[in-house]
Amino acid sequence: MSEKTQKPKILVARSIFPDILERLQEVAEVESNQSDRIWEPEALRQALVDKDAAIITGSEPIGEAHLKTATHLKIISNIAVGYNNLDLAALKAANILATNTPDVLTETTADFGFALLMATARRVTETEHWLRAAHWKKFSICDTPLAMDIHHSNLGIMGMGRIGQAIAKRASGFSMNVMYHNRSRLSPDLEQECGARYVDRDTLLKESDHIILVMPYTPENHHLFGEKELSLMKPTATLINIARGGIVDELALAKALKEKRIFAAGIDVFEGEPTVRPELLALSNVVLSPHIASATEKTRRAMIELAIKNCLAGLAGQTPPNLIAY
Ligand code: 8YV
Repeated sequence: MSEKTQKPKILVARSIFPDILERLQEVAEVESNQSDRIWEPEALRQALVDKDAAIITGSEPIGEAHLKTATHLKIISNIAVGYNNLDLAALKAANILATNTPDVLTETTADFGFALLMATARRVTETEHWLRAAHWKKFSICDTPLAMDIHHSNLGIMGMGRIGQAIAKRASGFSMNVMYHNRSRLSPDLEQECGARYVDRDTLLKESDHIILVMPYTPENHHLFGEKELSLMKPTATLINIARGGIVDELALAKALKEKRIFAAGIDVFEGEPTVRPELLALSNVVLSPHIASATEKTRRAMIELAIKNCLAGLAGQTPPNLIAY
């Protein structure tokens, strides 16, 4: 802590709502980034040198190089449920706590997953572009872009944590037949509550009409969805990714979409985001969105408030509510 002020020094790495920042400034000496500039790794390392804590987003990777000179740092508080941007082994070695923001974004993210699924399978954005480009000359029964049904179709959920479960509950309102694959199987009660049955990965790939990815990104599932997995999917199937870009081999996906080996895809997260591969941009059977699954004002506010709560608890020597186990 700074001896002069006795207030902890906190880096708030990206722009946040000004009223929340003002409240934090009452209890901490804050270095903020309200211009929302993107950090070069070296600039981030330097900004951490004198800080007691940092509140960051998933866009700021933190590794050993950042930590070796951050001798005061006690906690890294991620404004995200995913934490693949954090090198947990390096944090553990440096005895620095790490936290994330689960729960507060579950329903909002599940809503968006469903919105992206529906936009993709029912060709909402594609047909709007078609209309705007003046291709709509007449109403037609079959000479029109025909879509895939959502209701009574087979939904495959990859990753059955909180968000996956919230998606399954929405699916029951559409009379979908829900299957899931996860590292561990849910309890029978929870399976019943979600109306979902556990299947192995190949069964999910082969039988789903729509697949949605909601699992965490780990080194083990890097490019888990590649040429082979895509080839097991039905040619009429859609693939939705609201998890992390690196889970899908984007070049293999673009190829499968181009060759119509799957029907369509809806992608909210990209391996090199914010850069999106030209191979994906060139296709009409993919709906692309800029990592917005949790982006409602209410939810983004709740995520920041929770990140601050975690941060201040860690600084006060308490166990933060959302401590990441490492
Ligand atoms: C975040 C997300 O908005 O929580 C996550 O893991 O992907 C999004 O909700 C994003 O990561 C910003 O940190």
